[in-house]
Parts: sequence; structure tokens; C-alpha cells
Amino acid sequence: MQRGEHLYAGKAKSVYLTDSPNLLIMHFRNDTSAFDGEKVAQLDRKGMVNNKFSAFIMQKLEAQGIKTHFEKLLTDDESVVKKLDMIPVECVVRNIATGSLCKRLGVEDGIDLEPPVFEFFLKDDARHDPMVNEYHIRAFGWATDQEVEFMKATTFKVNDVLWQLFKEHDMLLVDFKLEYGRYDGELLLGDEFTPDGCRIWDVATREKLDKDRFRRNLGGVVEAYEEVAHRIGVPLD
Ligand SMILES: Nc1ncnc2c1ncn2[C@@H]1O[C@H](COP(=O)(O)OP(=O)(O)O)[C@@H](O)[C@H]1O
Ligand SMILES: [Mg+2]
Repeated sequence: MQRGEHLYAGKAKSVYLTDSPNLLIMHFRNDTSAFDGEKVAQLDRKGMVNNKFSAFIMQKLEAQGIKTHFEKLLTDDESVVKKLDMIPVECVVRNIATGSLCKRLGVEDGIDLEPPVFEFFLKDDARHDPMVNEYHIRAFGWATDQEVEFMKATTFKVNDVLWQLFKEHDMLLVDFKLEYGRYDGELLLGDEFTPDGCRIWDVATREKLDKDRFRRNLGGVVEAYEEVAHRIGVPLD
């Protein structure tokens, strides 16, 4: 399979049509961004690591009955995925308070959230991805009530599966973001699951092993992603 017409380029991935109308090639670039694209850098190996990381996680989720867009790895930094009609909201689950939640509510960084917190954000960089709720989603027709319920239930199921996976390898899944899209009358998990879109801490030291290393200039960004990949068994070479 080969790249066809370039469909769109986001901040970290580029998407291409293929000879099959239902499939896309997703290219994971080394581009790394934070603060809605304000801070950008090229990080060597990141595209490859994230491509393989996301493929591994998507397959773990499929094995637990969660339907995803993932078809197959194509090259080191490209995957074949089903072409989805993306829902323009991000689904976030938080197991531990940190980042924007602490800023917004003034709560202590690092406290456990029991039960976990679910949040929706509108995908709109220009408006800094504002938080929205079910009423906004319904009023503006971004998704149906049934789709909203499906996204919430599925995101919590993903949390159960992945909390356990990272815990088994001495890591805490602090929070993560998912995107869904429509395919043939149903919703599938799309986009990616990588350390770019989640927070992972070492359970003993609480060392950050995710994109917060980039946001906070801690260094060793891709090295940390590779460490997480190594611990959970993602084959990188
Ligand atoms: N299976 C899919 N079908 C169509 N579009 C997708 C699929 N998975 C992800 N996308 C979209 O691809 C775009 C590129 O990804 P990314 O670089 O992460 O963009 P962004 O800058 O919006 O975060 C995003 O708009 C994302 O929603
Ligand atoms: Mg993205």
C-alpha cells in the first residue's frame, strides 16, 4: 500500500488517502508540540516510537473487545487505519489530578481522583480546546446522545484496561485523551494512544514519563517514551 493524496496534517501526524476508499495511511512525524501549538520541536525517533506504541495499545484494546481504527503497521512511522468521520471532541479521563485540572480548580497536584474524572474538550486549537459538556455537544450537534454515552463508557473501559497494564509494569496512568470517529454506522476509537496524549508516572519515584517532559523542559523526552514502551513490551526494533 502506498500514500495517495495528502488529506491533512495535524500537529503530530499527517494523513493520506490510499487506493482503498475506507483506509488511510497515518504518518507519525517527529514534530512535537505543546500549549496548542505554541511550543514546537523536532524530536528524533518520536514518530517511530509513537507509531509502534499506538499500534501496540490499539491491539491490546481490540483484544479486550474495544473496536479501533487500527489495521496494521505499514513502516516504522506509518500505520494503516480505517478512515473515520471524526467527532470534534476529545474524551479525557483523569485518575490523578495534575496539569490544567489543578490550574482550573486550584486542587493539589498529585491527589488520587476516586472515582476517576471524565471531561470533554472541543478540538479547537485557536480557542485552546475549551472544556465542554454534554449539553454543548447536543446543542451544536457534534455528536448524538447515544454517541456521547458510547464515548464515555468506552473511555472508562479503556481506562480499566490501561490502568491495569501500566500498573503491572510499575507505572501510573495519570490521565489520557481519546478521539473517536464514525465508521459504517458505528463509533470506533481513532487517532492515537501515545505518551504525547497521556500522562504516565513511575509508581515509585513519580518521575514523569510523558509529554510533560517536553512541556516542562525536563529533557529525555523520547528516552522516556522508549522506557515506557520497553516496560510494557512494545517491540521497537
Ligand atoms: N482514523 C482516522 N480517520 C480520519 N482522521 C483521523 C483518524 N484518526 C485521527 N484522525 C485525525 O487526524 C488528524 C491529525 O492528527 P494530529 O496530528 O494528532 O492532529 P491535531 O493537531 O489535531 O492533534 C487529527 O485531526 C485527527 O483527529
Ligand atoms: Mg492530535
